[in-house]
Amino acid sequence: MSIGIGIIGAGVMGADHARTVASAVGGAHLAALSDADADRAARVAAETGARRCHADSMALIADPAVDAVLIASPDATHAAFVLACLNAGKPVLCEKPLAATLAEAEVIIAAEKALGRRLVQVGFMRRFDPAYAGMKARLDAGEIGPAVMLHAVHRNAAVPPWFTSEMVITNSAVHDIDVARFLLGQEIVAATVFAPPVPAGALRDRQFLVMETAGGQLATVELFVNAAYGYDVRAELVGERGTLTRAPRDAVALRQSGRESGAFALDWRGHFAAAYQRQLQAWVQSIRSAVPVGPSAWDGYAATAIATACVGGLARGERVAVDIGTRPALYD
Ligand SMILES: NC(=O)c1ccc[n+]([C@@H]2O[C@H](COP(=O)([O-])OP(=O)(O)OC[C@H]3O[C@@H](n4cnc5c(N)ncnc54)[C@H](O)[C@@H]3O)[C@@H](O)[C@H]2O)c1
Repeated sequence: MSIGIGIIGAGVMGADHARTVASAVGGAHLAALSDADADRAARVAAETGARRCHADSMALIADPAVDAVLIASPDATHAAFVLACLNAGKPVLCEKPLAATLAEAEVIIAAEKALGRRLVQVGFMRRFDPAYAGMKARLDAGEIGPAVMLHAVHRNAAVPPWFTSEMVITNSAVHDIDVARFLLGQEIVAATVFAPPVPAGALRDRQFLVMETAGGQLATVELFVNAAYGYDVRAELVGERGTLTRAPRDAVALRQSGRESGAFALDWRGHFAAAYQRQLQAWVQSIRSAVPVGPSAWDGYAATAIATACVGGLARGERVAVDIGTRPALYD
């Protein structure tokens, strides 16, 4: 049986996911699309062959032709749609962040616990990226000994004018927070955000985030979201006996006329194309096998809890303790 996928939000990410489902994911088809902008939904449906469009995203969730839902609408809309999917008993892949507030993330955890089975996967697609997954596999194989530190860089070419200083953490760094938990394998217990002063109302777009884990490991993240020259995301995992690095660009370098050059993507869609495809294929496979994979609602909740603590630390200019609580058995 082919899984009918319904996508909520036909903007940058929703359209990208729709193209991937339509062209590069086996065992599934694009059953429906919805967007607050009906014309946009219709354009993306025409391009990708989505079978129908809904003006109301709740109607998409209720549509019997939709077996599973992918949420790619703005952050503030995520929690209500995830909860509606849980109520309908439908698997849901929610773009990061799981929720815009910690309180909303807590409600989602309570709802999934009450349901007693995992239906939520969160779009921390870096876990499916061949390089990050490879670093994790080689760490687990003991190649560099126990992990002690992680250094990450997260630079965007540009962000829209409505992007806030808090969103640098909740919308951008949330990926690096998840990578730190994934690669270091221990829970974050404290965080400090360093950001130089800026004029009132200006974006604090140069930040250093330092996280500490329960086992005394350190993770640093440089955030620079108007870096102008391109999308540049890297990580170096330091172990007791070596390091593993996620390089920022193509492995293929051109040497010509006395120069060496290589391409790197201008935004996340090119940089992480393989990760998005692998994430979607794994999600479809998990629905078919009824065995959840990838980042859970708990991982989404944890990242939101850590990001929320960081936002408080940024505002107060202090190191903050983080306590995300005990992971429920459902997520073991
Ligand atoms: N995983 C990643 O690497 C990654 C990258 C970029 C964005 N994102 C996430 O994806 C989500 C979408 O981001 P984007 O860049 O595509 O934004 P976007 O603004 O390009 O698209 C959002 C779309 O949602 C529509 N929309 C707004 N309210 C809606 C509603 N109530 N119901 C249905 N549609 C609605 C808008 O009309 C728009 O078309 C965000 O949550 C963002 O954090 C994830």
